[in-house]
Amino acid sequence: MSLSLPVSSEQPRPWWRAFSRKLAMLLPKGLYARALLIVIAPMVILQCVLTYVFMERHWQRVTMRLSNALTNEIAAIADLHQVYPGRKNDDLLVRIAQQRLDIDIEFLPKGELPPALPKPFFSIIDAALSNEIKRQIGKPFWLDTVGRSNFIEIRIVLDDSILRVVALRNAAYASNSHIFILWMIGTSFVLIVVAIAFLGNQIKPILLLAGAAEAFGKGRDLDFHPRGAREVRQAGYAFIEMKRRIERAFEQRTTMLNGVSHDLRTILMRFKLSLALMRQTEETRDLQKDVDEMQRMLEAYLAFARGDAGESAAEIDVQEFLEDLRLDAERAGFETKIAFAGDPVVTLRPDAFKRCLVNLIGNAQSHAEHISIEAVRDQRFLTVHIDDDGPGIPPNRREDVFRPFFRLDSARNQDEGGTGLGLAIARDIARSHGGDISLGDSQAGGLRATVRVPV
Ligand SMILES: Nc1ncnc2c1ncn2[C@@H]1O[C@H](COP(=O)(O)OP(=O)(O)OP(=O)(O)O)[C@@H](O)[C@H]1O
Ligand SMILES: [Mg+2]
Repeated sequence: MSLSLPVSSEQPRPWWRAFSRKLAMLLPKGLYARALLIVIAPMVILQCVLTYVFMERHWQRVTMRLSNALTNEIAAIADLHQVYPGRKNDDLLVRIAQQRLDIDIEFLPKGELPPALPKPFFSIIDAALSNEIKRQIGKPFWLDTVGRSNFIEIRIVLDDSILRVVALRNAAYASNSHIFILWMIGTSFVLIVVAIAFLGNQIKPILLLAGAAEAFGKGRDLDFHPRGAREVRQAGYAFIEMKRRIERAFEQRTTMLNGVSHDLRTILMRFKLSLALMRQTEETRDLQKDVDEMQRMLEAYLAFARGDAGESAAEIDVQEFLEDLRLDAERAGFETKIAFAGDPVVTLRPDAFKRCLVNLIGNAQSHAEHISIEAVRDQRFLTVHIDDDGPGIPPNRREDVFRPFFRLDSARNQDEGGTGLGLAIARDIARSHGGDISLGDSQAGGLRATVRVPV
């Protein structure tokens, strides 16, 4: 028999997942910064560990040994003083200590020790010396390791006097240790600088590749040569090959359709000729109308296929661009308002983009009286809204109207019709810029067509 536990669909998120998400949020997002972090973080950790171990072991131990040695000498002097008392012997001891041991000693008359000094915040030497004196001599003492920077002073209460010792700080303390740390910081600084320089060179080709792919997505041409490490170059060549294949497929399709339309046009001409030669009846007139419409569609398609192929992207001033469109619309007798916000300089293919907007404005003109064009450019996109006060398009038809040769006007005004290619062309252009067109409701009650392309 199997026992099944109730499983709740909402399981608590494991803490490590929450933690890694937090960490990911804190970490830099760019490849360069991340790579630097990967190089620098281990180095810094290694240094911290090394420094700690060094301080803890080496530095402390050496200081301990040195303090031990100094205390040995002082203890020896104290013992000698006790065994050979007398002023002459003291003088001899002072001289020997100075010449052989490199420490200054003095025998002071017995009295009180000065008040104890406050302990320094971080000092191995103070602790080491205190320990050693307590252990080896075991008499009351006074210690100054802070006062005069290069020297330390020790006073020890002997039976009949006070022994005052002034020794070089080096004698009790591994004072050159900080040089080790300086060297470590210095060399790692050099290493980091070298790493930054090298990493920059490694990452630049990846950024170039990303830039080229992005430009291709926006329909811009960029001079791109693969560089850098083998894998990056491989990716670069693969990208170029892919780009070439896409372009070739595109070209092939256009050429083929072009050819087909062209052939059809020739046949249509023959049709028309035959029709003209026939006796005019109701049927031939209908036929003629159909043939005319077919020809119009073919012409429109041919114009589209010929298109703006080969046009390259350029910087344009959107404000001027819109002003031109407004003037054209006014000349055609339509009241048109424009508004623009943001930086007006944008890179796109001017003729193609104009055709896109003209198609949308043309639609508004054939369905409405008042048109308003509103453009906003932000960090990433240029967005153009074209609003009219016409009948609009019902939401369930808004995708259909983008289909080539699809027209809603059958119930409206069929005769002054277009071919139904306008929106298809406009969307094609927007997409070739890496953007798109969407349709919605305008505030004026008509249609709002929105073109949005990345800048
Ligand atoms: N602003 C608009 N208001 C109302 N209906 C519209 C509007 N724009 C487009 N439509 C509808 O969408 C259909 C498709 O538009 P599209 O621009 O593709 O073709 P068209 O304008 O009929 O012909 P063409 O633009 O090729 O001359 C149109 O037939 C029309 O019914
Ligand atoms: Mg149209």
